[in-house]
Amino acid sequence: MANAESLKQIKKRRTFAIISHPDAGKTTITEKVLLFGNALQTAGTVKGKKSGQHAKSDWMDMEKERGISVTTSVMQFPYHDKLVNLLDTPGHEDFSEDTYRTLTAVDSCLMVIDAAKGVEDRTRKLMEVTRLRDTPIVTFMNKLDRDIRDPMELLDEVETELDILCAPITWPIGCGKSFKGVYHLHRDETVLYQTGMGHTIQEVRIIKGLENTELDSAVGSDLAQQLRDELELVIGASNEFDEELFLQGQLTPVYFGTALGNFGVDHMLDGLTEWAPEPQSRETDQGEINAEDEGFSGFVFKIQANMDPKHRDRIAFCRIVSGKYEKGMKMRHTRIGKDVRISDALTFLAGDRALLEEAYAGDIIGLHNHGSIRIGDTFTSGKEYRFTGIPNFAPELFKRIRLKDPLKQKQLQKGLIQLSEEGAVQVFRPLMNNDLIVGAVGVLQFDVVVARLKSEYNVDAIYEHVNVSTARWVYGDDKKVDEFRRKAQQNLALDGGDNLTYIAPTMVNLQLAQERYPDIQFAKTREH
Ligand code: G4P
Repeated sequence: MANAESLKQIKKRRTFAIISHPDAGKTTITEKVLLFGNALQTAGTVKGKKSGQHAKSDWMDMEKERGISVTTSVMQFPYHDKLVNLLDTPGHEDFSEDTYRTLTAVDSCLMVIDAAKGVEDRTRKLMEVTRLRDTPIVTFMNKLDRDIRDPMELLDEVETELDILCAPITWPIGCGKSFKGVYHLHRDETVLYQTGMGHTIQEVRIIKGLENTELDSAVGSDLAQQLRDELELVIGASNEFDEELFLQGQLTPVYFGTALGNFGVDHMLDGLTEWAPEPQSRETDQGEINAEDEGFSGFVFKIQANMDPKHRDRIAFCRIVSGKYEKGMKMRHTRIGKDVRISDALTFLAGDRALLEEAYAGDIIGLHNHGSIRIGDTFTSGKEYRFTGIPNFAPELFKRIRLKDPLKQKQLQKGLIQLSEEGAVQVFRPLMNNDLIVGAVGVLQFDVVVARLKSEYNVDAIYEHVNVSTARWVYGDDKKVDEFRRKAQQNLALDGGDNLTYIAPTMVNLQLAQERYPDIQFAKTREH
């Protein structure tokens, strides 16, 4: 058991990420959350606003301005008596692998839905991922300053499409031009909306009680009556908030508001910091590790390269699972079986790099990586175990990569292996030839890899078509795998971590291989 001060610190922590479909308002809400966390003086400085340009240049520019992507990776701020860690996930769907892995490092999620559109594709996919660990979900229905869909219908859609019960905590009064505010069901009060106050923390007017005649004069008697009628229906037809079900990921508290108008975000944050779980346990190959357990432990879920041109290093993001990090402490790097002394872990509080003196379970620390850290690595205060459940996904897109200058083969190989350890891309080396095949989950990854090979490894590379349409990691009894390796050589490759992989020219070919070799497991995901 950790000591009393550590326990106090750990219990204060709330670590979450935002999941949403692009354009639902994740960036805007992040700005407002930071505004409330006092981490920013004026909201609107998290990242440059998207202009008419598409996401691609947005991302590349962001990457170029490394300082910006640092601040948006991990944000820590105090909120009331809690300390919140908000982890950013790349917005573009081509970086979904990174997003999935980031979701293994949080204890709860905020789901943002564009209330004019309802449940969208990417939210559906991300919710599937949060389901793998039954992550508790808080929901924010955004853009109430626009004409939205019927709120009751929205809740229905979330319940049926995402298979999670909804418990409204606030309820909207009108929408679009006639949006007047929300009624808070738990506090029995109406909070009135003012337009044009999106960049500040608003002094809001609050009206106590639903039957209060002040409500009629404030929002108009028609809307006030509509609210009373709707609430009667809502209270009868929807679920009450149940903390147990919430913690099991089966019920989500729902808030309404507008991120742009900075309205309702504080209600959501109040709920999130009150109900979202404190740092949770994680599985290892030797059983579960709890946040309160004695001794430091953590796992790496993301590696980001050269974030600051002045430093030109790679940072491994490590989620602390138990105990406390102290500057200068010795950690066991369990995959390579070595002790390392860490005196320069980073935190990203308020957007600046700052040397960190201490951090606790629930926090994310940045470790300088000189090539020995990979995604999925475990650090402990001495014990030999490894965290499990940090996935790699079989790529769906493949290209052969070739050098313009053949003399730089070594740099190319080194660059690709490092980029694959970072999770930026996957690389496969066929057993039968000297090709290098790059596999990606999203098409944008290819461009990023070529750009980074050029700037970081000084290698000019180009892509060619390759006849591969899917890949599966190969597992099985040693003898069977050896036999398979001999017989199916022409379709086998090693990935960046030397794991045997079947690369199939067509899905039909894969199916035939699966039928022909029933003792071999063809896996779509691989744990680091
Ligand atoms: P994302 O990170 O989830 O992709 O969404 P982001 O916050 O960038 O928001 C997408 C668009 O929706 C932005 O407008 C943003 O201003 C707008 N938005 C966010 N919240 C609200 C809201 O509560 N009400 C309204 N009306 N709009 C909202 P954009 O025109 O695409 O970008 P920009 O030109 O404003 O940068």
